[in-house]
Amino acid sequence: MQPRTDQEKAKWAAGTAAVHAYVRDGMKIGLGSGTTAHWFVRALGAAVSEGLDVVGVPTSTGTRDLAIEVGVPLTMLAEVDRLDITIDGADEIDHDGAMIKGGGGCLLWERIVADASDKMVAVVDGTKVVDTLGAFPLPIEVIPFAWESTQRSIARLLTRLGYPEPDLRLRTSNGETVITDSGNYLIDAHLQAIKDPIALDGRLNWIPGVVENGLFTGVADEMIIGSASGEYEIR
Ligand code: 5RP
Repeated sequence: MQPRTDQEKAKWAAGTAAVHAYVRDGMKIGLGSGTTAHWFVRALGAAVSEGLDVVGVPTSTGTRDLAIEVGVPLTMLAEVDRLDITIDGADEIDHDGAMIKGGGGCLLWERIVADASDKMVAVVDGTKVVDTLGAFPLPIEVIPFAWESTQRSIARLLTRLGYPEPDLRLRTSNGETVITDSGNYLIDAHLQAIKDPIALDGRLNWIPGVVENGLFTGVADEMIIGSASGEYEIR
């Protein structure tokens, strides 16, 4: 598989560079989700076929399937104490490393795996780096039971903070509700500019029925920013 567009080339550069920059023999690695993290998983599979000895914990069923396809050995968090590192993508990342994640709907497993890791590195193309988070809709994972009530509670909080009402995420193909790997629904909040990401993260997760939200503050230790020329920068 080859990257075609400039953005895809930049994602490839970031994902592939992460193997050489961070992965060492014997590591236990959290495997992120999304197209950029999947370039990392493919490059990791190639390194494994050349003798690299690592084991991965996937953050989604999609990443699990890809890891199996490209030959990355897998384990589960139940089997290991801590992971050495997680390499994952982001929908947006600010200059302090705060992120919006979950555009692909995998935020819950991504957050659990990142939390079990000694280090988290975000792999992104330059379009993801922003001054202020919020242009990308913030995903909020809610349990299906009484999700309408949970959505109203989220809407009340957002309205108080001056933001518009959020939407249930539906498949564009058939209008059906998107269901996450944990069997939950996603509510997308259209915030444009998030004034205080740390406070909003905490307030959203206090709402009963909210399982997790995509504001990952204090999670990323470093970021690799890829460019279409194949170069990358670590910050
Ligand atoms: C999935 C994620 C992804 O990391 C995020 O959506 C970025 O994806 P991509 O690398 O395809 O742009 O959080 O839940």
